[in-house]
Amino acid sequence: MARKTRKVTIVGSGLVGAACAYSMINQSICDEIMMVDRTYDRAVAQALDLSHCMDFTSTRTKVYAGDLEDCRDVDVVVLTAGANPKPGQSRLDVLEAAEQITSGIVNRIMGSGFDGIFVVAANPVDVVTHIVREVSGLPRNKVIGTGTSLDSARLKTLLSDVFSIDPRSVQGYALGEHGDSQFVAWSHVTIGGKPILQILEQHKERFQGVDLKEIAQKTKDAGWEIFTRKGNTQFGIGNALAYIVRSILNDEHKIIAISAILEGEYGQTGVCAGVPAIIGEGGIQEVVELNLNAEEQHKFNESCSIIKNAIQGLAS
Ligand code: 2OP
Repeated sequence: MARKTRKVTIVGSGLVGAACAYSMINQSICDEIMMVDRTYDRAVAQALDLSHCMDFTSTRTKVYAGDLEDCRDVDVVVLTAGANPKPGQSRLDVLEAAEQITSGIVNRIMGSGFDGIFVVAANPVDVVTHIVREVSGLPRNKVIGTGTSLDSARLKTLLSDVFSIDPRSVQGYALGEHGDSQFVAWSHVTIGGKPILQILEQHKERFQGVDLKEIAQKTKDAGWEIFTRKGNTQFGIGNALAYIVRSILNDEHKIIAISAILEGEYGQTGVCAGVPAIIGEGGIQEVVELNLNAEEQHKFNESCSIIKNAIQGLAS
């Protein structure tokens, strides 16, 4: 019996959407990708360009342009369309524009009979993920934001440079807002399974120059370092999206720091924030509750308050 065709729609065929599509094609993550954009010709151009990858990849992914109303039998909708902050703005500063764009898009997708999973990258991603959940009416497991997955990857990359270790041998998370109030849960960062705080304690001499506060700040600022130079980011977020989609479609049960609507976890309810979660076939299988220390829990609560205020600002 032929298996079900795995279909992904990418809403927003700009740099992030194209990077996500390109990553999925090169990793053979799905069978079909439908590119959607408010400028249909851009969706057509990206689909055509991406379709020319096929002779050089290990499997064929059909790529075509389509519309929001064509999402009925789509497994995952990746939402990248949104508003870009201008230099000097924060991600939260584009919230009003993002709300209008997101509500319109989600209503049209749900009108198609879509009953799959949303993976959201549009910023401010925590609030936009909340909006997608509200407008779609889907259960929380089916609405996933990229959250602090990219920030956690940036953290690992920074630590890999400091400790000359492959980033994939570093475990740890940035948590909370994908934005200025994010923080690193250092109590849970390990290198090769060994707590980083223990490593620094035991090898004071060798790692005397390592400044965890500075590393956490660089993690937070990494997006701006790129944004201020080229006006956007695309490859890191594109791969983060593909990584989440792959864990869903292959039911991989990866633990990824995504943006989830919390239902009591970490003492928070009704707010969407970056937390580690098991991602598989049904989307969010489970939110993983780390034993944060008092300082980390305080930072998490502060970050959630900032997100909550932004959400309440929408309602007013
Ligand atoms: C980033 O930090 C796009 O917000 C995303 O790169």
